[in-house]
Amino acid sequence: MSVKFPKTVSIIAGGRIIDPASGIDAVGDVYLKGGVIDKIELKKKALKTTAEMDAERSIADARGLIVAPGFIDVHVHLREPGREDEETIESGARAAAAGGFTSVCCMPNTDPPIDDQETVQFVIDQARDAACRVYPIGAITQGQRGEFLTEIGDMVAAGAVGISEDGKSVASAEVQRRAMEYVRMFDIPVISHCEDAALANNGVMNEGTVSTLLGMSGQPGAAEEIMVARDIQLAAFTGARLHIAHVSTAGSVKLIKRGKRDGVRVTGEAAPHHFSLIDRMIAESFNSNLRVNPPLRTEKDRKAVIAALADGTLDCIATDHAPHSVEEKDNEFDKAPPGMVGLETALGLVGKVLVVGGFLGWPRAIELLSTNPAKIVKVPGGTLAEGAPADITVFNPDEEWTVAPEKFFSLSHNSPFAGWSLTGRVKMTICRGKVTHIDE
Ligand code: DOR
Repeated sequence: MSVKFPKTVSIIAGGRIIDPASGIDAVGDVYLKGGVIDKIELKKKALKTTAEMDAERSIADARGLIVAPGFIDVHVHLREPGREDEETIESGARAAAAGGFTSVCCMPNTDPPIDDQETVQFVIDQARDAACRVYPIGAITQGQRGEFLTEIGDMVAAGAVGISEDGKSVASAEVQRRAMEYVRMFDIPVISHCEDAALANNGVMNEGTVSTLLGMSGQPGAAEEIMVARDIQLAAFTGARLHIAHVSTAGSVKLIKRGKRDGVRVTGEAAPHHFSLIDRMIAESFNSNLRVNPPLRTEKDRKAVIAALADGTLDCIATDHAPHSVEEKDNEFDKAPPGMVGLETALGLVGKVLVVGGFLGWPRAIELLSTNPAKIVKVPGGTLAEGAPADITVFNPDEEWTVAPEKFFSLSHNSPFAGWSLTGRVKMTICRGKVTHIDE
């Protein structure tokens, strides 16, 4: 029987190699050695037959598949420390590998929060044998209380690659200004969850026609946009590097476009759910897995987010993977906590909504999933150049599959995509030269 994916791999043969960082999009073989990319041979015809593939068990047959630099997710929530029933660093990394990710950045809203050197070190220690690289994001303020800055330098020294108050904004512009002044010393980004708490007013969904019809409390798009505008202004003022998390409105897209045009060092991400789902779907099902922050917006917003991913206004796709327990999610819509898991459906949604939808091609999708996120948080990977780490994702761009959350590697299953048919399936993930996932 043919061994399509051996447990150890020294050659990935005959796939379509797409590496935007080195300008490669061609059929060829990728050679791995000692945890790095040894060389790439393009349009090589030698490794052709299945018999030849079988003869050497460390050759992975990638014919008909795409071979890409490993995906990098700059925005996940692993619930360790604190809620290990929902996700651990180990289980989250396993889910990441299944989704084609070789690196993830984990947000600090754990319990206790990742707000000092010891907790950053704890995450790094816990991740030592994990199925992907795990980079902590440190909190901006102590206890995420919005008052006093954390010891940013200590956290960076321990391995934090950015700071964020994710889950909320830093309400005080003065505190946010100081954070931005500090990060300039380390050239790490401030990752901003943009939500004016007063204006959002605990709204459980987008404020608009649908929330009015349903009689649900809404938060307006302006609650996000006000903070996007403030933080772009502060980035211009301080010269800091700003990354806007989970952009969800057409207005935020416009502000980021203008900031970039003005030379502000601002980048932005979009989550798969914001380019795949809209608020109207809540009225159809009241599925509490559709509750997320920022909330699902309108079709106009969704289209603007997609256009921004295609035209370069937004720089990367990040899942905002947010595991929650069945007990908490199996609740009325307004009582359930916001968030959905996303690591294991990201590629399939990119394939179905963005690529099959005709908005962008696989090379741009790989830029958004790997090349650009590597640059934003300055981590190894994001390229298949010779000498780069052997962090690689092999996927079938045409394979259709049905989402079955009970089969997820994540400890949590709060996905609104259950039963959806997606396009694009991860077949093999390799991190540091080791196979971390095979789709069998
Ligand atoms: O929906 C969300 N869930 N948005 C956030 O900003 C936080 C996240 C979580 O931690 O559950």
